[in-house]
Amino acid sequence: MFVELSNKQRMPNIGFGTDLVPDGETIINAVTWAIEAGYRHIDNADCYKNETGVGIAIKNCIDRGIVSRKDLYVVNKVPDWKQGYDSTIKCCKESLRKTGLDYFDLYLVHSPYRQNENWQKSVLDTYRAIETLYKEGLVKAIGVSNFEIRHLEFILKEAEIKPVVNQFEFHPQRQQKHVVEFCKAHDIQVVGWGTLNQGRIFKNQTFLDLAQKYNKDCGQIAVRYSLQKGVVPLVRSTKKERIYSNFDVDGFELSQEDMLLLDSLDGGEFSNMHHDGIRPVHMVPDTQTEYSPIPYTKTYKLFSFIPLLKEKRVAWNKSKWFLFGFIPFLRVTKRDETQKR
Ligand SMILES: NC(=O)c1ccc[n+]([C@@H]2O[C@H](COP(=O)([O-])OP(=O)(O)OC[C@H]3O[C@@H](n4cnc5c(N)ncnc54)[C@H](OP(=O)(O)O)[C@@H]3O)[C@@H](O)[C@H]2O)c1
Repeated sequence: MFVELSNKQRMPNIGFGTDLVPDGETIINAVTWAIEAGYRHIDNADCYKNETGVGIAIKNCIDRGIVSRKDLYVVNKVPDWKQGYDSTIKCCKESLRKTGLDYFDLYLVHSPYRQNENWQKSVLDTYRAIETLYKEGLVKAIGVSNFEIRHLEFILKEAEIKPVVNQFEFHPQRQQKHVVEFCKAHDIQVVGWGTLNQGRIFKNQTFLDLAQKYNKDCGQIAVRYSLQKGVVPLVRSTKKERIYSNFDVDGFELSQEDMLLLDSLDGGEFSNMHHDGIRPVHMVPDTQTEYSPIPYTKTYKLFSFIPLLKEKRVAWNKSKWFLFGFIPFLRVTKRDETQKR
């Protein structure tokens, strides 16, 4: 099944997520099982650090005759710390080299947030580079990710080529209705990440009750919820049976009443994280027109060298376990700040 994007491209309506899956055997197996199960949309990014494995799995599946390249819809993204015109072109070409592909079906600005506060210039330079990549045929469609309304308004005003997609966190506990409505009004397809709320739905009583009622599992309920909302869900698993079951969502539909029940979960516990480094997604209400520095700016700045260390691989292997010890601390800081609002 497909959704048609504003550029007439057909996007498979369920995507396989690859974030946080280690490169090597784990990602190769996961992507291979996903393609065998029927997923044709693979969501990947420079910062997931597993593009080589994703590419190997795709090549193996093509060599085995399971799919051809044109059947697949492969997505990639430029992370915020590589924003800028030249660095975006370089990043995309490097990602193509690592995955062994000639083109991406869709290429996204991973996030509008950046260490400096002049996000407009940074995002625009990046977007211009993506437009160039599109004109050169290296990417077949372009879009954005984690953009809120003010970012979308800005890019719609400045862009030569309109974004076809906005990818952001979407599931019953975080519906971001204002962004969804804005995207629908501007013919921008919403692609939802964290469809399973990064595993939290499997402990949620409403999901458990609905799973029992429909004789399905919570993952299938969540995927159906997104589909019925017109959102393309991205789902990740490293387990073969889960990869299959999350995709097996035909033949049942959630009733209007149960959709409303799931709607009522909005505002529950959610991730508020994206993984292009360690930075929590900046949650400024859209009523605020100016960019406000994140409340934990000082903490963030203190650790903002980490993605750079990772990039340069400066003593990374030796220091990463020590550095990762601070992540729970940062998450606590972020939660405190969110609760204060
Ligand atoms: N643009 C962005 O900023 C952004 C941010 C985050 C994610 N994404 C994309 O969206 C994709 C999906 O989101 P996500 O990775 O955040 O998480 P998700 O798909 O919401 O949840 C994944 C978690 O659910 C577990 N799980 C999956 N199926 C299950 C099942 N049937 N039963 C029980 N547990 C199950 C997985 O564990 P197991 O592996 O053990 O099954 C994993 O821990 C990502 O992989 C990535 O491609 C994009």
